[in-house]
Amino acid sequence: MDIPSVKLNNGYVIPMVGLGTSGLLGRPSVTAVAGALRSGYRMIDTASRYSNERSVGMGLRQSGVPRDDVVVQTKLGGGDQGFDEAINAAQDSARRLAVDHIDIYLIHWPCPSLGRTVESWKALLTLADEGFIRTAGVSNFTQRQLQSLYDETGRWPALNQIQCSPALARTELREFMTENGIHAQAWHPTGRKEGMLGEPAVIRLARKYGKSPTQIALRWAVQQGISVVPKSSHAGRQIENADLFDFAFEPDDLTALAELDRGEKAARDSEVEEEF
Ligand SMILES: NC(=O)c1ccc[n+]([C@@H]2O[C@H](COP(=O)([O-])OP(=O)(O)OC[C@H]3O[C@@H](n4cnc5c(N)ncnc54)[C@H](OP(=O)(O)O)[C@@H]3O)[C@@H](O)[C@H]2O)c1
Repeated sequence: MDIPSVKLNNGYVIPMVGLGTSGLLGRPSVTAVAGALRSGYRMIDTASRYSNERSVGMGLRQSGVPRDDVVVQTKLGGGDQGFDEAINAAQDSARRLAVDHIDIYLIHWPCPSLGRTVESWKALLTLADEGFIRTAGVSNFTQRQLQSLYDETGRWPALNQIQCSPALARTELREFMTENGIHAQAWHPTGRKEGMLGEPAVIRLARKYGKSPTQIALRWAVQQGISVVPKSSHAGRQIENADLFDFAFEPDDLTALAELDRGEKAARDSEVEEEF
């Protein structure tokens, strides 16, 4: 399995497909992570909130893949926002993962009611400057929330992990991110909760290219430079989810998929929704 990569605004290079781990706990988490790495994945997405950093770390070690070949991405929980709190939380995550540095550390949700987003961002920048994390980024940030980080610190995140699939194309937000060198990474990239995989256009394209509906959704992202972190506990589906690079959509195909976009209002709203 050969997964192409993308360079972030700080020069750090990440694969276009990583393994999501939300909902994977204990032994199944160890097995899924070790299996994915053995089959060729080189990026794992976790979060303190997923309560699986220990098992993800175990999977990393059991895979036999050298630590430095793997991008380990985890996230700062809302309850740990604040400058000192974020520094401590990053160290706690690294301890649970049993790694001596974190490759990508994201603020998981902005949580505006806490009023600590900028302090948290300053902590991540400090950790990045010290080399404890390789890349500082965010997740679920709107254009306004990204702008406020830049206004306060003069530094954009390298990456914003957002809810994104053909059903939630996030076009305006992604345009703003592209203008400012912020890489888009898609969570829930299969769009199955939005019922997208049963859409006639997706099924037609799956037949046309001899791929699964899931692969159609994931290809839509990677063809536009959006990296993806699909979660699967199943070895065969993990391989399927990274097998996206031997076909390409024609302009008409992309037009058909664009019609599936439900618009920004259908996405979770980080000005209102908070997780901590
Ligand atoms: N930043 C955030 O706020 C945030 C929020 C949500 C998720 N995430 C991250 O993004 C990752 C992905 O999001 P997600 O887990 O919500 O959704 P997803 O990856 O789009 O979908 C996962 C679901 O699809 C199934 N699946 C995956 N590949 C399949 C395939 N090829 N064929 C059939 N079924 C397939 C999985 O079941 P099986 O395991 O049985 O294959 C699982 O039930 C998460 O795991 C997490 O790491 C981040």
